[in-house]
Amino acid sequence: MKRFVLAAVAAIVMSTAAYADTVKIGVVGPFSGPFALQGKNFKAGIDAYMAINGNKVGDNTVEVIYRDLPAADPAQSKALAQELVVKEKVQYLAGFYFTPDAMAVTPILKQANTPLVIMNAATSAIVTKSPLVVRTSFTTWQTSTPIAKVAHDAGVSKVISVVSDYGPGVDAENAFKAAFEKEGGQVVEAIRMPLSTNDFSPIMQRIKDSGAQGVFAFLPSGPTTLGFVKAYNENGLKAAGVKFFAPGDLTQESDLPALGDAALGIQTTFHYAVSHDSPENKTFVEAASKAIGNKAELSFPAVGAYDGMNVIYKMIEATGGKQDAAKAVEAVKGLSWVSPRGPVSIDPESRHITQNIYLREVTKADDGTYYNKEVQTFEKQGDPGLAAAK
Ligand code: PHB
Repeated sequence: MKRFVLAAVAAIVMSTAAYADTVKIGVVGPFSGPFALQGKNFKAGIDAYMAINGNKVGDNTVEVIYRDLPAADPAQSKALAQELVVKEKVQYLAGFYFTPDAMAVTPILKQANTPLVIMNAATSAIVTKSPLVVRTSFTTWQTSTPIAKVAHDAGVSKVISVVSDYGPGVDAENAFKAAFEKEGGQVVEAIRMPLSTNDFSPIMQRIKDSGAQGVFAFLPSGPTTLGFVKAYNENGLKAAGVKFFAPGDLTQESDLPALGDAALGIQTTFHYAVSHDSPENKTFVEAASKAIGNKAELSFPAVGAYDGMNVIYKMIEATGGKQDAAKAVEAVKGLSWVSPRGPVSIDPESRHITQNIYLREVTKADDGTYYNKEVQTFEKQGDPGLAAAK
């Protein structure tokens, strides 16, 4: 009898130990190289979430392990994800700034029994590649659709489209075209540039030559977007009255000091502005500024990461810290909460985030700093790209 009791106690202790464990999250992002500031924002969002909510979910301690992926590199992305799963024994994969890097990881999720919580990559189709993908960022379909109405309302009927030639760029081009044609507008030319393009003068010449009244543009945020908007100003397009329409990737807050007055008045549509006026955002901006060390460096990947952590904490709670990817994902389908960006929910079918998209205008504050001022809200936007992604 005594032996039996001892064995039972030992079994309970062991099983408790197995549950009351460290749950590891492997986060892949650009933490060095030209896009390092974007990765730094992932980390700031994660640190802010853990500073506010602690590092415990029930009895489990959460640990985040970072891996650096400086550029879009699918083979390296897959290798890093495999190393995180096999060697580090992470229960969750998260982060992923560039679409090709997220895409490369989807085939390993099922066997690894690991959900993938995408904190940035914005091509619609990613969520269709595995039932274990959940996304807390945005899609370029979601952010580029409303700007077409803005362009039409501004009296523009002929636009030239310029995008980076990869997933989110092609999606942005298709989204803008579909919505703009619905408004009665016309895309007179559609240019797709290699992702590596950094001399934009020839493109600016083509925009001028096209005779379009406006340009629609998408490039992934970073040195790319800063260079493109600078070129638009420096090549005289702004002065010539060619109007600029884009999703908010093109005017991320961390680029605004370098753009200066030249960016004033640029209108973009996006899911998040650092200036968003709400108590939730105030709490977030305070914590994320502290984490990043300089409020001027805050940008949208921080909010994708912050909300991604919220989703992962719910998953850990629902599974009691046990590795069960299907159960974890099931638990967040339909989940709704108030994010720093506004009210959001996880669409139970697509596992992508439903959210408000805001029209914003680059504005100078009294203290001389620049910000994206929200001027209009397109409420509860799902992903219009999902039909196209199937
Ligand atoms: C992407 O590769 O999916 C991506 C990267 C940066 C952005 C938007 C989309 O700003």
